[in-house]
Amino acid sequence: MTILLAGSVILPIFFGAPWHPLRPSTLRRILEFAEIQPGETIVDLGSGDGRVLIAAAKDFGARGEGVEIDPIKVWFSRWLAKRAGVQDRVHIVRGNLFDFDFSQADVLFLYLTHQALDRLTKDRVDRLKPSARIVSFRFCLRGLQPDKIDPKKTLFLYRMNRGRNFDGLA
Ligand SMILES: C[S@@+](CC[C@H](N)C(=O)[O-])C[C@H]1O[C@@H](n2cnc3c(N)ncnc32)[C@H](O)[C@@H]1O
Repeated sequence: MTILLAGSVILPIFFGAPWHPLRPSTLRRILEFAEIQPGETIVDLGSGDGRVLIAAAKDFGARGEGVEIDPIKVWFSRWLAKRAGVQDRVHIVRGNLFDFDFSQADVLFLYLTHQALDRLTKDRVDRLKPSARIVSFRFCLRGLQPDKIDPKKTLFLYRMNRGRNFDGLA
């Protein structure tokens, strides 16, 4: 059991980011900051225990798509989604976030390290649809000017409709 739990917390550090659960007040702040609208699809890359997606579905009427590398968190998040009654609107798969197709996202939520964000920005993020927005918690996307920053300077919102050019970043 100890080995399983240690693996669940420590191993993801080497893949993209360690797990750090969000407090309920922070979760609420993130979803309000992201301007989530009913029916929108929010994608969480490295979805942890699914709390962002579950709250977005339950409290904001959104659809949630998540990818998580740790099978224990995937199992647990699906169980939590079912318990919250949103299993029909929250879909979480086990996999590597760098291989996940998030092109249908209205909101791409990221709580990852700078290293993971750099790789993602350079390789993939410009495939988002023009109406999409990216919300990054704690870490900004290096080299890009955010459209909105929260007063605590822990949330960064980027709108794709500005004709952003990601070439040559990081
Ligand atoms: C800081 S936590 C954020 C969890 C969740 N997004 C939240 O805000 O509650 C980062 C998560 O990314 C997962 N992760 C790390 N590298 C990953 C990878 N390459 N592919 C998928 N998930 C990954 C970790 O297991 C961890 O659950």
